[in-house]
Amino acid sequence: MNTAASAFGSRGIRILLVGAGVRGAMWARVIAEAPGATLAGIVDRDEARASRARDDHAPGALVARDFDAALARSGGAADAMVIATPPSTHHALVSRALAHRLHVLCEKPLSEDVDEVTDLIAQTKAARRHLLVGMNFRYLPSSQRIRRYVCTGELGAPSYAHFTYHRQRDGNRDDLNDYVMSMAHPMLLEQSIHHFDLLRYCYDAEVESLVCDTWRPSWSTYEGDCCVSVLFRFANGVRANYLGTWTAAWNRMHFRWRTEFEGGALIQREQFEDLVRVDFDRGLGLRGPNFKGDGEAETPVVEPLEPCTPFVDDTRGLLAEFLGACRGELEPVTTAGDHLESLLVVQACIESLASGGWVTLQELRDRFAARPALARPTGEGPVPGGGPS
Ligand SMILES: NC(=O)c1ccc[n+]([C@@H]2O[C@H](COP(=O)([O-])OP(=O)(O)OC[C@H]3O[C@@H](n4cnc5c(N)ncnc54)[C@H](O)[C@@H]3O)[C@@H](O)[C@H]2O)c1
Repeated sequence: MNTAASAFGSRGIRILLVGAGVRGAMWARVIAEAPGATLAGIVDRDEARASRARDDHAPGALVARDFDAALARSGGAADAMVIATPPSTHHALVSRALAHRLHVLCEKPLSEDVDEVTDLIAQTKAARRHLLVGMNFRYLPSSQRIRRYVCTGELGAPSYAHFTYHRQRDGNRDDLNDYVMSMAHPMLLEQSIHHFDLLRYCYDAEVESLVCDTWRPSWSTYEGDCCVSVLFRFANGVRANYLGTWTAAWNRMHFRWRTEFEGGALIQREQFEDLVRVDFDRGLGLRGPNFKGDGEAETPVVEPLEPCTPFVDDTRGLLAEFLGACRGELEPVTTAGDHLESLLVVQACIESLASGGWVTLQELRDRFAARPALARPTGEGPVPGGGPS
């Protein structure tokens, strides 16, 4: 715990954590180490997991099997809640937290059901509280840098992109969660949603339309489809071609995100790092070999990025946004309202799969009475001085 001064007193914002599984254990560490926050309690149906997280990270925290017991035992001494349980539990848990007037940060997907998300947004507004969602990869230095290039126009306007994520994720591993094994769309809802969110966030643009296909290779450990292919058209004209999978035939993780701008290219070659920039030399196309290799084409320049421990430092960035919002110091951007737009992209993928054709996002926004989320100022992060989201 850190004693940063705030309206919340020397203990800072007191947070209850619900869910102490794979992700919850990470949250326990990040909250316990955060300036201006105290991990007041850890709740898990599996009390042994909650106790382990407490022993590892926050010896003073209370441990309980359910939310009501935790609130009762804390004597109402909580300001906020972080939820890291399976998606099917999110709507009920967020609703109860808001009813107790707690600010909430909930893991993704906020729900598998778009109507539940619009309901939570309405509840959040009525309670005058903040509801943020676990889109932590926005806070990777590589993501922030790509967004900065787009927002400053330093390389000209972005034109098109290729995003590939090949991972052989064996769902039978002991250190992975189980609930995804039987989800209808595990890749779309659990993993691709991060990638869709990054495309929206970094390109500072909403999806205008898309066409999607998904499938299940014969050796997949999942019941649902784990291969997702999408062609996006963004409102700013950017085209993006996406392939993401948890079922590969090579155990080497392979990540590549390449964006072509008018003045060059950005290529991220590893999942959490290794971003290079190419300064496009148009005249070079007329000289040298027709098919250029290394040493014949422009030399990529490594983008220097801050060191980052994946899942820790990016989660710290997201938690800092949440704490700033709770203190009324900034207008958060990683909100439920913003997340709704990424979930509509997932919904559009599912509908495209059914129809076999292009789906227009505006049609879904109209149907679900959603406003485009990117009505926010252009910039790198949260905006200072905001009210409840
Ligand atoms: N943002 C990220 O980088 C990231 C990474 C991994 C997982 N996640 C998300 O975190 C969430 C949890 O995933 P996980 O991998 O930790 O799952 P997990 O199965 O490892 O852990 C979930 C925990 O929640 C507990 N639980 C379930 N229902 C509960 C309830 N009603 N009350 C109290 N405890 C309950 C379970 O006992 C379990 O310990 C999911 O939404 C997942 O998508 C996010």
